[in-house]
Amino acid sequence: MSEHASFLRRDEATRGLTLMNVPKTSACFVMSVTVWFIVLLFCPGPLRAQLGTTPNIKHIAVGRCYSYITLVNPSLRYDCEDIWRQFEEAVVRQSSCNVTVEDYHHMFSAMPQTWPCDRFLFWSKTRTLMHSYAAVIRHFWTLEDTLVGYIFNDLIWCGQEEDSGFDFGSCPEWSACRNHPVYSLWRQASQNFAEMACGNITVLLNGSITNAFNRKSMFGSVELDSLNPRRVDYVNIKVVTNLEGPFIESCRQGSITDLIQILQSRGFRWTCTDNDHTLMILQCIQNPKQPSCQTCANSLSHRKSLTLN
Ligand SMILES: *[C@@H]1O[C@H](CO)[C@@H](O)[C@H](O)[C@H]1NC(C)=O
Ligand SMILES: *[C@@H]1O[C@H](CO)[C@@H](O)[C@H](O)[C@H]1NC(C)=O
Ligand SMILES: *[C@@H]1O[C@H](CO)[C@@H](O)[C@H](O)[C@H]1NC(C)=O
Repeated sequence: MSEHASFLRRDEATRGLTLMNVPKTSACFVMSVTVWFIVLLFCPGPLRAQLGTTPNIKHIAVGRCYSYITLVNPSLRYDCEDIWRQFEEAVVRQSSCNVTVEDYHHMFSAMPQTWPCDRFLFWSKTRTLMHSYAAVIRHFWTLEDTLVGYIFNDLIWCGQEEDSGFDFGSCPEWSACRNHPVYSLWRQASQNFAEMACGNITVLLNGSITNAFNRKSMFGSVELDSLNPRRVDYVNIKVVTNLEGPFIESCRQGSITDLIQILQSRGFRWTCTDNDHTLMILQCIQNPKQPSCQTCANSLSHRKSLTLN
């Protein structure tokens, strides 16, 4: 994902493959206005520009595409050059705030992808933990494992109206426009991913924040509505808090009850788990001194000493 998108997602992490807390931005917006105001007041000279399109974006994107179809998923046949052409077509010669999801349709139709059931992992504001979880439970698939997610992860891009190229000088904040080129791509990618979801799906939410389920997050605004109750058997929600807290939301408390209500009204079957054991162990690996990790550590060392005796 581009910086913007991963900022988004990271924000979700502070939201889930989120792509987008668009509205939540009002607070950020106010903040950034304030920040810029301060910058204007105290920094004479030219303003520092926002980051522009990721340098070497074409080589990175096309290279990742070849890497994906050659090493990651060799059974797939895609035309990486064509995908790039369609991408470029969507983005360049457009004002940098005027790229809609429709503009990407040709690109997406050049990269259709289906995924085996029971492997879909959605998340909001749990980005770091999601990565370790997906790395350990190898069968999980996230948006970043799809071809489009793999190619565009952490990239930034925007075009410029008068020119046939990308704007490498600066791109707008994703929150600054309605049709941000990066946001639009992730929005469509998220929608496709959710529409494809089938069997049991897993949703990882952050119980250490208010609004663990946020209607403005990518999960809450795009993915949830795109899930199909006829394709999905169970929505298995896992609420995970930081080991040290705060313990704000759970399956029975806060916004997650809203999510459950929405699922129920749309005819989904669901389960919800607080403090999933595997997720806690993953957190303990990163932070073994946490008191809540001691029982596990003690029982392990106990077992070890039994073995040694
Ligand atoms: C929950 O969100 C907070 C704030 O964004 C973040 O610092 C924390 O790492 C997240 N916790 C988990 C378990 O992902
Ligand atoms: C945005 O794109 C549409 C369709 O591509 C075009 O008609 C419109 O003039 C553009 N608006 C701006 C502000 O560039
Ligand atoms: C799907 O989830 C339900 C509820 O958690 C569980 O009982 C069932 O065994 C799961 N099926 C598969 C194929 O994982």
